[in-house]
Amino acid sequence: MKAVLLDTDDQFHLAEIDPPVPGSGEVAIQVAYAGVQWGDVLVRDGHFPIPRPFVPGFEAAGRIVAVGAGVDPARVGEEVTALIGGGGYAEVVVAPAVLAVAVAGLDVRTAAAFGWVTPTAYDLINTVAAVRPGDSVLIHAAAGGVGSLAAQFAVAAGAARVAGVVGNPGQVDYARQFGYQEVFTREDFPDALGEQQFDVILDPIGGPTRLAALERLAPHGRLVAYGNIATFEPVHVSVNDLLMHGRSLLTYNSNLLSQTNPDRLADSARRAVQLVADGSVRIDITAEYPLADLGTAVANLADGVTRGKSIIRIG
Ligand SMILES: NC(=O)c1ccc[n+]([C@@H]2O[C@H](COP(=O)([O-])OP(=O)(O)OC[C@H]3O[C@@H](n4cnc5c(N)ncnc54)[C@H](OP(=O)(O)O)[C@@H]3O)[C@@H](O)[C@H]2O)c1
Repeated sequence: MKAVLLDTDDQFHLAEIDPPVPGSGEVAIQVAYAGVQWGDVLVRDGHFPIPRPFVPGFEAAGRIVAVGAGVDPARVGEEVTALIGGGGYAEVVVAPAVLAVAVAGLDVRTAAAFGWVTPTAYDLINTVAAVRPGDSVLIHAAAGGVGSLAAQFAVAAGAARVAGVVGNPGQVDYARQFGYQEVFTREDFPDALGEQQFDVILDPIGGPTRLAALERLAPHGRLVAYGNIATFEPVHVSVNDLLMHGRSLLTYNSNLLSQTNPDRLADSARRAVQLVADGSVRIDITAEYPLADLGTAVANLADGVTRGKSIIRIG
């Protein structure tokens, strides 16, 4: 089969290799499209200690063509979107059966773009922060993959006010299409908020932004930390102060969840699929590349050239 190998020269090479065989609890998927995500930049740049060459690719969509021991053979033929630890940039990928989720109504391009960001955004809003009708929500990195989806899930959950923070003024109009009523620039945060407080704040930024955001939580408000885009510097918070104001600091890690409780992640993915399928949530696919151009796709993401989601055409 055709696959892309990431080699020691940090380049993606199109190659012909043997297709993988599903083991116990796994399915083999004939991949139609795969999604590009920031993790591809991290593996390209050597941030994960994976022996090379290997086939990268964390998310793929297509049809199940074989199942391993313990998996219902009736799943052969099912169209799925799969959350995987690698191997997605190939004509066939093996995935844990539990994380190969039926796409039920999604076209296969959208199913590939669904990836990890959609169940993550779903869980941040619905499972972790538990947004209720009437809540106010502030979303950092508002125009990013998670942010653009989280805003839509917040609206679908009945949030009364959804505000976002973006990096530069050029992102403001782009972000607004996802349901934000107000969009602030990072430079203006938190001063431009005035006295506003929020029931829920989503924070993948870290450092001083996290501390400033905690100060903006309304009584009984929840801040969810789910990344450290800007910095890994420790954030020291007084639990007594949080308790005094009835504020909560929560975290979310979808990769860990996929290992400890894959069934819970799959359940969220299925609920998210429904909201995408019924049009409540739109995934903005802005670029499509053939498998041979994966290197360009990843470079464009790394260089900030692309907005929205890029996908790779394989099948
Ligand atoms: N915990 C989990 O389960 C989980 C799951 C998925 C992703 N994540 C994390 O969530 C974050 C967002 O992921 P994504 O897929 O949405 O990424 P993305 O689409 O690449 O968006 C990242 C956003 O980060 C903003 N940004 C970049 N540099 C920044 C900085 N120095 N300070 C503040 N903001 C900055 C950019 O905003 P502007 O363009 O507006 O500047 C960009 O829109 C990443 O850190 C990722 O690792 C966590």
